[in-house]
Parts: sequence; C-alpha cells; structure tokens
Amino acid sequence: FLKKVCTLTAAVSAAAMLTTGAVSAKNFKIAVGDSAGSSQEGTGKFFIEALEEKSGGKHTGTMFLNGQLGSEQDTVNEAAIGTLDMSLLAINNVTPFSPTVGVFTLPYVILSLEDAEKLTQGPIGQELTENTIRDAGVRILAWTYTGFRRLTNSKKPVTTVADLQDLIIRVPKNEIMIETYKSWGINPTPMAWSETFTGLQTKVVDGQDNPYTTINSMKFYEVQEYVTNLRYIFSIEPLIVSEAVFQDLSEEDQQILIEAGKEATLKSAQYLRDIEAEIKDELVAKGMQIDDPENDEAEFIKLATEAVWPKFYDSIGGVEKMNAVLTAIGRDPV
Ligand code: MLT
Repeated sequence: FLKKVCTLTAAVSAAAMLTTGAVSAKNFKIAVGDSAGSSQEGTGKFFIEALEEKSGGKHTGTMFLNGQLGSEQDTVNEAAIGTLDMSLLAINNVTPFSPTVGVFTLPYVILSLEDAEKLTQGPIGQELTENTIRDAGVRILAWTYTGFRRLTNSKKPVTTVADLQDLIIRVPKNEIMIETYKSWGINPTPMAWSETFTGLQTKVVDGQDNPYTTINSMKFYEVQEYVTNLRYIFSIEPLIVSEAVFQDLSEEDQQILIEAGKEATLKSAQYLRDIEAEIKDELVAKGMQIDDPENDEAEFIKLATEAVWPKFYDSIGGVEKMNAVLTAIGRDPV
C-alpha cells in the first residue's frame, strides 16, 4: 500500500510540475517582422544561443521570419493573450499599445547609437519595460539597434522638404510618424509592415523609411532607387515576451530569459557597429543613390521638433518625462 501511495504522490507532483511549466523544456515561438539577414534576426539568434547555453540546453527558440505570424502590431495582441510566446518588432509598432514608449519614436530625440544604448539599458528603458507589461501585457527582454530610418523612394533624389511634396510615403500605423510627415507638409499613408514591400512594388506608395540593414534584408533595392540620409528616428526593435508565458516559468527560468536578453542586447549593438557601413556600400553597389539632406537636415529638424514634440508630451508621460530623456543623453531640457 505504501509503495502505491508513494508512486501516486510522485506521479501527482510530476504532473503538477508539468502544468506549472516549472520543469518542462520549452521551444519558444518567436515572430519576426523582418526577413533573414535583418538585425531583428540577428538579435533572435543571439537570444536563442544565450538561452540554450544558460538553460543547459533545456530551452530553445524558433523564429518565424518575414511576418509569417502576422503583422508586427498583431503579434503584440497575440503575445498579450498568450497565444504567441515572443515577437521581434520595431518599437513604433509597440507604441499604439503602450504610448509611453513613443518617446523613442519622437523625431530627433535619439541622435546616435550611444544615445539609444544609454536610454534603453538605463532606468528609462527599465521604466518603459514596466509600462509595456502594465499597458500591453508584454515584457521587453532585449533591444535591437537597427540604425537611423532612411527615406527611400522610387522617383527622385530628395534632399529638401520641398522635394517631398509630390511623393506618397508609407508610414507605420503610428501617430507620431504620421504627424512628423505632416509637419513636413505631406499626408503619409499608414500601412502595415507586412504589406509594405507589395505596396512599393505595385506603386500604391512611392516610398517609405527604414534603416539600411532593413532596406537591404527586405530587398527594397529591387523596388526603390533613392535613399535620403534622414536621421529623424533611430530604429530600436525590442524582443518582447508574453507576460502570461513569462509568469508561467519558474523564477530560475525567468532569470535565464532576462540574462539571455541582456546578452542579446549587447551583441546587437556590436553587430550594428560591425555591419552598418558595409551594408550602406552594398546598397550603392545594388544601384541605390544615397543623398544627404541639404543644410545638415536643419529644415526637417526644425519643422518636426517644433510641431511634433509638444503634441505628444501628454502621451509619453508629461514634459518632465521628455526632459528626463533629454537630460539622460546630455541634451538641454525643453
Ligand atoms: C515598420 O516600418 O513598420 C517597421 O519599422 C519595420 C521593421 O520592423 O523593420
């Protein structure tokens, strides 16, 4: 009888452990908005490597590239309800669900990779992570640094605000980016990322903006000819995990995910430092013409900062938040 009870107890406790996920091995399903060769994929690889190593091979991850699991904004919803484990996507596609992260999308706030590293890896990044858990049910595990979003189009070189006026430009469904183009005098076309290549190919839109590495990995050089070196947004692309999925893990496993995310973040910055210049040359070799905006971008900067910043102080957490961000990167408060 005693033997029977012991066996039963062991079976019950094994089943309990399995249902809480405390010991079960997991293959995390990771949605990725971009294609192979992108900096998003780079972060995914760094994260999976670190996850496997730190969990002694217990956990791993599988990436589904190129928006296979839905548009970037849809993946936030999926993760929030726990039907998707993780997603790698641009921060501008998280903002609609957690407005305070919009501070990273405000034009001309982040002016270098170093600014991006300071903000994401410091107390402000930590606070934004807590906000996305609260607002959107997802936790930021890692940050991808993808570089400045450069404007591309199929029609002509653009170096001034006047040059933009007759172009139809695709933007993400993001209010800050829509308002930025409005400040430059045009009404942009909001379109999901997963539809953008086709939109450019079929000429529903003339242009879009994204970093060199994204332009290259998404093969935009096949449908776009001109690049303008705008620096209005430095693209940051988090790896998010469903908070429901995260809370199902043991504390030890949660810590493993957090540490793997930190390692992937550091490697992502190095990756960008190593490859960005090379990718820019590759785009030229593939036939793209790259121009700098006239007058060191002064007109673009003035119009966007004056019109757009004040419109979003409330949504990012007040003018004090804006000033905390500016001060953290050594800039004058507003
Ligand atoms: C977008 O333009 O929607 C995103 O920045 C694209 C991306 O994830 O690379």
